[in-house]
Order: sequence, then C-alpha cells, then structure tokens
Amino acid sequence: MTRTPVIAGNWKMNLTKRKASSLAREVAAHHGASTSRRCIVFPTYVHLDHVRRNLRGSGVVLGAQNCWGKKEGAFTGEISPYMLRDMGAQLVLIGHSERRHVFGETDAWIAEKVKIALKAKLEVMLCIGETYEERQASKTYEVLERQIQALKVVQNQYVTKISLAYEPVWAIGTGETATPGMAQDAHQESRRMASDILGADVAEQMPILYGGSMKPSNAAELLRQPDVDGGLVGGASLSIDQFGPILDAVSGS
Ligand code: PGA
Repeated sequence: MTRTPVIAGNWKMNLTKRKASSLAREVAAHHGASTSRRCIVFPTYVHLDHVRRNLRGSGVVLGAQNCWGKKEGAFTGEISPYMLRDMGAQLVLIGHSERRHVFGETDAWIAEKVKIALKAKLEVMLCIGETYEERQASKTYEVLERQIQALKVVQNQYVTKISLAYEPVWAIGTGETATPGMAQDAHQESRRMASDILGADVAEQMPILYGGSMKPSNAAELLRQPDVDGGLVGGASLSIDQFGPILDAVSGS
C-alpha cells in the first residue's frame, strides 16, 4: 500500500501578516507542482486569506488550526467550520494537544467538531497523543484508544477525509522527539484502533502524521517508518530553511 506522504506546517500563534504571506510564497515555490507529497500549511485564522492568495497557483493546501463545533450562532469570538470553508480552507486541525491541555477541550467536544467540520466539507486532521506522565504510567495506548473514539462520528461518505496526527505531548516544542521505533509503534497501533472503527481498508489508506519536534535532522528517519506517513511540524515550519529540507525528506521515504 502506498500512501502519499504529507508534510504540514502548524504555524500556531506566530508571524505577522507580511511574514505569513512571504513564508507562504516560499513554501509554494519550494513545493512547486510536486505530486509525490502533499504539503499543507495551517496559519492563524486572521492570516488565512492572505496566505490563500500567496499560495495561489501552487499545490499547497490551506488548513485552519481549529474551529468551533457549531455551524453558526451566538458564540462571540468563535469561528465556524463553514466560515473556514468559505475562506478557502480545505482542511482543519482538530484536537491539537494545546487545545486539549491549554484550553481544556474534551474528547466529546472534539468529536462534535470532527462531525460538523466534515459536514462543512472540510477534511479533518485529528491530533492524538499522550502526556509524559501517561507514557511513564504505560497508558499511551489507552489514551490513544480513548482519543481515537472521536472517529465514531465519521459518516461513511467522509471516511476518506480523515487523517491522524500522532503528537506525543512531551515532544511538542520541547526539542525531545519520539524515537523512530516509538513513533512507528504508536502509529501502527493507532491504525489498528482506527480500523476497528472505520474498517481495515479505510485505515490502511489513512495518513498518520508524526508531530513533536520534527526537524531536518530527524525527519528522514521518522518518515522512513512504514506507518509514519508524514509530519506535522510546528517550530521548524516557521522558516523555509528548516521546512524546505523536511519537505524534501519525504522523497527518501
Ligand atoms: P513542534 O510542534 O514541531 O514545535 O514540536 C508540533 C505541533 O505542535 O504540531
């Protein structure tokens, strides 16, 4: 089975409008018309439109970092997935560990968001991952299994619109990276859990990205693992000098 590798840049709450626009142009130029990989960027909501215009003509996909779990209404300060779609986003990140741990998002709420985002015709990248304490207590798979239950809301017509990002919380922004073996084990197990919910064929096709201090020096080895289908890159996605070599690392996978 060959899954097209995916390299995604999660820009988090960084960059100015000007810097986001110029990074978008650099990513677009670097990625070019490559079809051997998929490239996604996740700017902040307020930069979506600028980034979209600067990606125009390239194959780089525009994604949003989050959305609210309702279509519309009295939710001051929030953004509906339908609005993201309307702004040109194709994809949305849901359940990032910062949303879970800093903003207290629950599994039930994350499942609601998955459901409505798919209905709004966005693809969903669902983030999962254990904390340091959970890994120390040998609870990694238990946590992943619980988080993966959000896939139960996915209706048949949307099963190909889902990808997973395994991001061990202890590796995000810390410089610590899961070893390629640890990543492979977690990815393989996540795929098995997803296949219990979505079926083996769907799970086999579903991209599972690794995230957590991916950088040029460790990307190739992580991406060589059979169940690691790409990377969700935070810090190293903010400069083309770092992100470019990570994009290029997939060719060797
Ligand atoms: P990092 O972030 O690459 O800076 O560890 C990854 C992420 O949070 O998506």
